[in-house]
Amino acid sequence: MNNLLLEISDAVATVTVNRPDKLNALNRETVSELFEVFARLGADDSVRAIVLTGAGEKAFVAGADITEINQLKPVDATEFGRRGQRLMSTIENLGKPVIAAVNGFALGGGCELAMACTLRIASESARIGLPEINLGILPGYGGTQRLPRLVGKGLALEMALSGKPVDAARAYEIGLVNRVVEGDELLAQAGKLAASLAGNAPIATRHILRAINEGTESSLERGLDIEAQLFGLCCSTDDMVEGTSAFMEKRKPSFTGR
Ligand code: COA
Repeated sequence: MNNLLLEISDAVATVTVNRPDKLNALNRETVSELFEVFARLGADDSVRAIVLTGAGEKAFVAGADITEINQLKPVDATEFGRRGQRLMSTIENLGKPVIAAVNGFALGGGCELAMACTLRIASESARIGLPEINLGILPGYGGTQRLPRLVGKGLALEMALSGKPVDAARAYEIGLVNRVVEGDELLAQAGKLAASLAGNAPIATRHILRAINEGTESSLERGLDIEAQLFGLCCSTDDMVEGTSAFMEKRKPSFTGR
């Protein structure tokens, strides 16, 4: 891969978008490589959690590649957007926790990428926003949909219409990131969180992700039905027997993913 670094240590994979001279902007090739790497990590049962970050000191991802957007005609642009949306949905529905370690600018497609992740940890230097309005376009990789779902409609409208990014403290305050840490602690903290999630029962993890992702896009009644069915499925697993037995035997559970 030309634009990504992949490192796997125990059950945690770390994916780094690696175009620091372009602030890790997502060009077509990078999007293709992200599809490729997430397909691989999704299919690899030994990987149970993923950290996604950007190379360099300055940026997580500073957006889709503006030089490519500049050349788009309407029909191509629609497909360009759909392709980015599919990537974000792939990450959101991977069935494993993906933690965005936001190490600087997460703008436009970078903000959209972070929002598609399961959780977001930001360094104090993070700046997160949807500046597309300044380019005469709208956020096209899911930003107009995921931002209001995360922070509410009023704040999402303010951010997308002004184009102004928020700093890490404000992002935490409005629920756009789960926590803020010092810059030199970011990867260690993200890795620690990923390792802790990776130790949980993988089938239950997958079903929780699905129940919350699907349920929050459905009626309460439908969401409760999804939850009941997935609860039933969890109770058919060895991990349910192990988890409940370990509790009763006052020991740590050891989950096998079966
Ligand atoms: N697409 C393509 N190239 C990008 C990019 C993007 N989204 N964001 C940054 N770059 C490139 C710059 O063109 C520059 O390349 P160059 O050295 O060949 O000129 C390089 O990355 C460094 O960026 P630069 O603008 O010089 O850094 P800065 O510190 O002055 O500013 C930002 C940082 C993030 C404020 C600024 O790069 C920016 O506004 N980027 C675009 C953000 C955006 O609109 N994203 C949404 C895209 S849909």
